[in-house]
Amino acid sequence: MKTLAFVLSVVIALVSIVAFLFQDEISTALASSSVVASALGYIPAGILEKLPFVVGKELDTSAEALSSEGTSFPWDHEPLIASDMSAPRAIRKVFKAVEQAEGAGARVRRSVGTAHLKNFSPFLMCDHFSISPGAGFPDHPHRGQETITYLLSGAVDHEDFTGSKGTIEAGSLQFMTAGRGIVHAEMPSQNHDTNVGIQLWVDLPKHLKSCEPRYRDLHSSEIPVAKSDDEKVEVKVISGQSFGVDSVKDLAYTPVWILDFNIQPGGSVAQPLPKGWNSFLYTLEGETTFGVGSGTQKVGQFHNLVWDQEGEIVNASVDADAKEAARFILIAGQPMDHPIVQYGPFVVTSRDEVMQAFMDYQTHSNGFEKAAGWESKIGKSMA
Ligand SMILES: *[C@@H]1O[C@H](CO)[C@@H](O)[C@H](O)[C@H]1NC(C)=O
Repeated sequence: MKTLAFVLSVVIALVSIVAFLFQDEISTALASSSVVASALGYIPAGILEKLPFVVGKELDTSAEALSSEGTSFPWDHEPLIASDMSAPRAIRKVFKAVEQAEGAGARVRRSVGTAHLKNFSPFLMCDHFSISPGAGFPDHPHRGQETITYLLSGAVDHEDFTGSKGTIEAGSLQFMTAGRGIVHAEMPSQNHDTNVGIQLWVDLPKHLKSCEPRYRDLHSSEIPVAKSDDEKVEVKVISGQSFGVDSVKDLAYTPVWILDFNIQPGGSVAQPLPKGWNSFLYTLEGETTFGVGSGTQKVGQFHNLVWDQEGEIVNASVDADAKEAARFILIAGQPMDHPIVQYGPFVVTSRDEVMQAFMDYQTHSNGFEKAAGWESKIGKSMA
């Protein structure tokens, strides 16, 4: 029986690979049945031995060790200070994130990772999600990336094949490094009607793609809050630095800043960002005016604003006569220059590595060993 199961998973893996290679050609269910047929005839003898196997390694996660490997950390910066001399970044584009169905019964407003915003290293995806009990993201794999989940209301339970599990509550975050492989489930808490948050997918530096998976939870009480002198601007410094206040360190492996801004009517801010990093923001509440001079734009709820890479600061303000405060999440990350080949939750650097990921996932090898016979308990809440 075991051998049969193994052969079947290899066949499924090969079918998936062929489906991936010919994904452009597959447009109808009809077409995919002929792909299955060709996949079965596609298994050349000895293909398994020929696939390049990636060997995962334990990581020394100290900042010193990682920076000696060429990963510079966001908190290595000298304090960044905005002055009248600072060059403001211009706005590259602004677009509304349209709500769509995702996973089993979840609704998301996706901004990064749509036709509006692709090839924006290190960011792969940014979803503003809303999930109700009975919906969610049951058991699924990841490789080669990190996911950062920020709960805005409600709670989300998670469980993975290493045995780790927990709940992210409103105001708290989870940083998950998939590395060489993880299989996990993310399900809404059964105690709240809706569970809302932001999930960001970031690419991992190439030399960290085969690291061991890791989780870091950041509880809301650990997030420092910085304020402007007039107290009209309040920032939750999740990762990075604002008004001279530093965040908790060593959260994601990929250098990323995440700042949650709340601006009262009449408030304004000039936030410095690390030089050369890609940056965008996502608006949650109210209306904010971004940019400077003739390039300013007033932006309402659920929009994504992409900043130019050039410049040192970004400006934001809320009209003094605005009826409500505004809230947005400003995100910046160090771009990487390696190619990105993404197929669903496998984020690698070549097509060969995608094939490898399919094989490893289906055959429970090279990081996916623990997937054999594993099923999450929380994923069953869907049934
Ligand atoms: C942008 O911020 C800079 C630095 O604080 C400031 O000098 C400038 O007046 C601001 N511009 C706007 C339009 O708010």
